[in-house]
Amino acid sequence: MAGVRPVIRGVGRYLPERIVPNSAFEHLDTSDEWIRTRTGILERRFAADGQLTSELAVNAARDALDDAGVEPGDIDLILLATSTPDRTFPSTAVTVQRELGITQGFAFDVQAVCAGFVYALANANALLRAGDARRALVIGAETFSRILDMRDRSTCILFGDGAGAVILENRPADGTNRDRGILATDTRSDGRYQHLLYVDGGVSSTQTAGFIRMDGKEVFRHAVNKLETSTRDCLTKAGLSTKDVDFLVPHQANLRIINKTAEKLGIPSDRVVATVRHHGNTSAASIPLALHAAVSAGSILPGNILVTNAIGGGLAWGSVVIRW
Ligand code: ACO
Repeated sequence: MAGVRPVIRGVGRYLPERIVPNSAFEHLDTSDEWIRTRTGILERRFAADGQLTSELAVNAARDALDDAGVEPGDIDLILLATSTPDRTFPSTAVTVQRELGITQGFAFDVQAVCAGFVYALANANALLRAGDARRALVIGAETFSRILDMRDRSTCILFGDGAGAVILENRPADGTNRDRGILATDTRSDGRYQHLLYVDGGVSSTQTAGFIRMDGKEVFRHAVNKLETSTRDCLTKAGLSTKDVDFLVPHQANLRIINKTAEKLGIPSDRVVATVRHHGNTSAASIPLALHAAVSAGSILPGNILVTNAIGGGLAWGSVVIRW
């Protein structure tokens, strides 16, 4: 059916200046070699003291606006995926709205942990197609360093801080999979698995922010299975198959999950975008950070089929298929 379809018009990113190498964790009876071989991570960034998630988000948003050649005044929807908001309320999205000088439209946070950017893209897609907005700023921004238990070597080595953003804009479309833009989305959750990956604090329970707790082996097992199924189903919704995929731009949790999922999908490694080496797992920020790297390298060409997928605490997971 002819109508509109949101296309990505610009991509931006921001990483804090402070680089934290694997050697910074050696006092925890771990090693650079263990971290590299189990996760693929070489280094991550941590925000400076006092540097808030909203600051990372605003920097990434400005970069995306520049890339798109769009003025803040042309944005009428902000979706900010984060699990590390500046404050309990208001949403970090409205802080970003204020900092960018945007006074029209609406802004809110999306909380789906590492699947946050996929959820945000899916929701922005629905809102734009419904006509509730015309041009969206979709951001993933996190300061996970604030919820790391720095005595727990099984989690603190994995995560980093960062932000990425895209500008989505409605364009006239034929309603076929030859259109540019978001072709299909798939979002899922299953709260029975929340004990596998969670934060042991919160407003209502402890009145503290808490720290990440994780059963790494179980998360790994669920991740590869659920990401494979979601990606295949999302491609089917788009009338495509894994053979049509030019680039897999996955959530950057760790290289072993990325490689195993790509292998199960039969997507060759030269079509998989992996940037986790240099920023660790930045949760909701990781997909736009990876997308930015691939776009900046000139790898992605107009007409290419991209698929993004992610899973995180919830468990919450999903995929998005995009024609560039
Ligand atoms: N350094 C050295 N040893 C360690 C470290 C460390 N940093 N962390 C754990 N170990 C030890 C464990 O204590 C254990 O020792 P034991 O056998 O004496 O008990 C041993 O290493 C093996 O531990 P496992 O948990 O079995 O190690 P595994 O090979 O599974 O690797 C890892 C751990 C990397 C966390 C892996 O399970 C994984 O990648 N899980 C996915 C989790 C993930 O990426 N989560 C991110 C959030 S969810 C998401 O974004 C998808």
